[in-house]
Amino acid sequence: MPTNMNIDEERINTYPPPCQMPFTDSNTSSPKPDPMSLASADASSWQELAQLILQCLGAITLLRILYHAVDVARLWLLPPHCGIRRYYRPDAWALVTGSSTGIGLWFAWELAAAGFNVILLGHKLDELREAQARIEAHFPHVQTRILVMDCSKATASEINEHLRSVTDLNLTVLINNVGGVITHQSPRIKPLTDYTPEEIDLNISLNAVFMTHMTRFLLPVLASNRSGPSLILNMSSGAQEGIPGVSIYSATKSYITALTKSVNRECKAAGVKVDIISIVPGEVTSQTNKPAHGFGVIDARPYAKIVLQRAPAAAARGVMVFSPYWAHALAFWVMRVLPESIRLRAFVALVLRDRNVPTQDDTDTHSEKPARTTAR
Ligand SMILES: NC(=O)c1ccc[n+]([C@@H]2O[C@H](COP(=O)([O-])OP(=O)(O)OC[C@H]3O[C@@H](n4cnc5c(N)ncnc54)[C@H](OP(=O)(O)O)[C@@H]3O)[C@@H](O)[C@H]2O)c1
Repeated sequence: MPTNMNIDEERINTYPPPCQMPFTDSNTSSPKPDPMSLASADASSWQELAQLILQCLGAITLLRILYHAVDVARLWLLPPHCGIRRYYRPDAWALVTGSSTGIGLWFAWELAAAGFNVILLGHKLDELREAQARIEAHFPHVQTRILVMDCSKATASEINEHLRSVTDLNLTVLINNVGGVITHQSPRIKPLTDYTPEEIDLNISLNAVFMTHMTRFLLPVLASNRSGPSLILNMSSGAQEGIPGVSIYSATKSYITALTKSVNRECKAAGVKVDIISIVPGEVTSQTNKPAHGFGVIDARPYAKIVLQRAPAAAARGVMVFSPYWAHALAFWVMRVLPESIRLRAFVALVLRDRNVPTQDDTDTHSEKPARTTAR
């Protein structure tokens, strides 16, 4: 037990406390600060700072997760409130490229069902006429037009020339749907070095150049609508991740998404009321992808319906890249989080499988006509 005397001595010896040391003369005889206690004070303030940084990072991460969860819930769980009718006016027209068969035909069909007049664009007049006749028979109140163009060869001036005939219409929807893989001979799925120079040009033209000219020419027409927003819907593909064996197709699909994002931002920045969205499909059974294999396969008709139901709501909220079918979205998410070694094995398995799947064009005679196949 310390005596009173001891306590006083202790007080005198430790006065002033270390925190007041700067106010004392360094030459006085008062005791020097204990370097050990200063170091531990230093360490504890660093600890506090580290704790604060971690807490901030935790809060930011939590907010991000919450924001993402609300976003996902709004996109996937709430019923799409507007759908394609967001772009409907009494005399509205929609143009769909590659609409004689496949997903494009069903886009045109669903647009007609929603009351739009439709412009069908393709390269085979007989197929286009057949599609036109089916649509007109089913939707007698709907007007249709046909544009015949080879999207893998049409030049910018030819495209502009053809499109002049539709600029007087009240165009509110453009669907850049046409696309696929063009090869002159088997195998259809092959490394880049096996492509001929002509095949390279045709594939880039069909998938990237054509839709760029279409967008450039028709964007001002779509933007001139005063009565409400318009839509440009670009068909990309899960192949944009870079699937071996379809390198050019993959690259052009990635181009479509990048172009979509840039033009979308240009429009937003300029206050142009055109929604622009890149659609990323997985496996869809269509004219050239028949039969489709793998997880989340869906037929072209229900797929087109889902896209037109869900994409407008997403586009209206500023989403620029979207997989409207949940199974495709799930498959792409899993692919993204997998390590590259597993992803590579999955892609190689996909390529080996597709190399052996005959496409519609294999039943054609051995003509010089380029064959097409649709890769995912
Ligand atoms: N199906 C899938 O699993 C899948 C997956 C991912 C992405 N996608 C993309 O979705 C879009 C539609 O695919 P899809 O499977 O419906 O394709 P599809 O069945 O091959 O249909 C393509 C349409 O484009 C037309 N077309 C083809 N080459 C043309 C050319 N050079 N000029 C003008 N028209 C041409 C075709 O007409 P003809 O029949 O008369 O040749 C057909 O109407 C494509 O962009 C594709 O890359 C599809």
